[in-house]
Amino acid sequence: MDRMRRLRMNPAIRDMVRENHVRVQELIYPVFVMEGENICNPVEAMPGIFRYSIDRLAGELNRVVETGVGAVLLFGIPAHKDEIGSGAYDDQGIIQKAIRYIKSEKRYRDLLVIADVCLCEYTSHGHCGLIKDGVILNDETLPLLAKTAVSYAKAGADIVAPSDMMDKRVAAIRKALDENGFIHIPIMAYSAKFASAFYGPFREAAGSAPCFGDRKTYQMDPANGREAMREVEEDIAEGADFIIAKPAMAYMDVIREMTVSYNIPVVAYNVSGEYSMVKAATAQGFIDEKKIVMEIMTGLKRAGAKMIITYHALDVASWLV
Ligand code: PBG
Repeated sequence: MDRMRRLRMNPAIRDMVRENHVRVQELIYPVFVMEGENICNPVEAMPGIFRYSIDRLAGELNRVVETGVGAVLLFGIPAHKDEIGSGAYDDQGIIQKAIRYIKSEKRYRDLLVIADVCLCEYTSHGHCGLIKDGVILNDETLPLLAKTAVSYAKAGADIVAPSDMMDKRVAAIRKALDENGFIHIPIMAYSAKFASAFYGPFREAAGSAPCFGDRKTYQMDPANGREAMREVEEDIAEGADFIIAKPAMAYMDVIREMTVSYNIPVVAYNVSGEYSMVKAATAQGFIDEKKIVMEIMTGLKRAGAKMIITYHALDVASWLV
């Protein structure tokens, strides 16, 4: 007779039959880099997360390298914003300088640097594209995204990650990278990116909340799982090397489906609001942070995520040793 408890008898046997594991090498740690000097500025809604100027970045990066976390995902906070987000594609922009700094330091040689490609942190209106008469323009935005990606690649980025959700941006970026001699630079596409309230704390961190309207004309309706697969198909056809599902926890079905339907690595983005909820409940003493976070990470692996982008990455890495 089947008795399921036989294989749960003791830790050794449970370890042996465990199906999914979290590996530090598969964790990606988001880092906010800010224009200026001597800045280490806490993000209020995200305890443990800071905005760093380049001269203060080393402490954080050393921890990443020491813990064995696989990659950082860089977000920039520029000194000036304008209508056309020019800080994103300025070769002297904050991310370009940050990448050049990281790549100039021998100790970070093996660290993968992923650059988020979007305009929203650089536009005065906070939208992810150019605007005319209150409309977020698609095709007019594409060359700027492509220029941004090329500029990051030139600075030394290992991977570019477009998060804007304009149609056809993966194709535009792939073409521009190829034409500029960056055929080897992969694109990690935010393919199934939903218009989510879980991004609230990030927008505080990056100062990127849209000043009018919302992102619902370009990010996906949280109700739509089938449509997410169309987004994924488009991005793969256009040349994506990885596909991201974002947010993670409320979208595990989407992660699962991406994994079973497509043979390319799936990345789960455990976003800012998901992190804030865990931190807030932990601070209240309502939950056990370590156990909860490990359960979330393992759940994302079980759903099918190959890699996980998470603000918990350094903590998870320290718990895994
Ligand atoms: C930029 C971008 C956002 C996030 C990643 N890239 C914000 C948004 O779309 O409003 C959110 C990340 C997070 O919440 O952790 N488009």
